[in-house]
Amino acid sequence: MAAASNRLDRFLARTLQRSLKQIRLDLVKGRVKVDGEFCDEPARLVHQFTRIDYDDQVLQNNLPIYILLHKPVGVVCATKDLQHQTVVDLIDHPQKHQLHIVGRLDLNSTGLVLLTNDGRWSSALTDPEQKVPKVYEVEVEHPLSASYVTAFAEGMYFEYENQTTAPASLRILSTHTAQVVLTEGKYHQIKRMFGRFRNPVLKLHRTAIGHYRLPSDLKVGEWQLGKCCVINEGGKGHEDMSTGSF
Ligand code: URA
Repeated sequence: MAAASNRLDRFLARTLQRSLKQIRLDLVKGRVKVDGEFCDEPARLVHQFTRIDYDDQVLQNNLPIYILLHKPVGVVCATKDLQHQTVVDLIDHPQKHQLHIVGRLDLNSTGLVLLTNDGRWSSALTDPEQKVPKVYEVEVEHPLSASYVTAFAEGMYFEYENQTTAPASLRILSTHTAQVVLTEGKYHQIKRMFGRFRNPVLKLHRTAIGHYRLPSDLKVGEWQLGKCCVINEGGKGHEDMSTGSF
């Protein structure tokens, strides 16, 4: 999903259906602006959100979109689904069909879902190497004990993936509720981890992804638009998204 960079001359040749030779002449003649400045460098790297003008024609002017949504139970984390309402169906935005989901939740889970058209930002947030913490509140059927804390911290071997889960934190909040922090996102991971204790998950709610928290005043089914985004290591340093300016 990462938004790749392209050479300016190749972008122009493809968009304008002109040869690379013609494009280089156009560049020398000062017919091209990149982000509002004249540019004559054929090898200049441009990406999805670089504004590009050719004479008076705007060739590209995409704005990044960042959306934070409070997912209800019964809504599917997909862009299209024949059976269920999707998270995209809940969003009223003219460019909503350009969005992709940053880390899915199961049909019966609730809480924070991020959507964007910015592949570089979503890749940074979902890259396992970055170990971006995802925080969940979990309610289970049977009482919890200290052995859960140890088992989550040690990791559990998942035969299907032939992998052991990364160390996860589990903090017991009450007899039947806990806060779980994962730094990865395997299929049904939390349910499978509690499944080892034969303890079914009754409720699963995500409250944060990295620094991006579900605002307490964002009602179930509602969404907010982010103003801008700075890509930092692990998607961790975005003040606008993580604080009140959403
Ligand atoms: N783990 C699960 O089992 N389900 C989710 O929705 C998220 C994490």
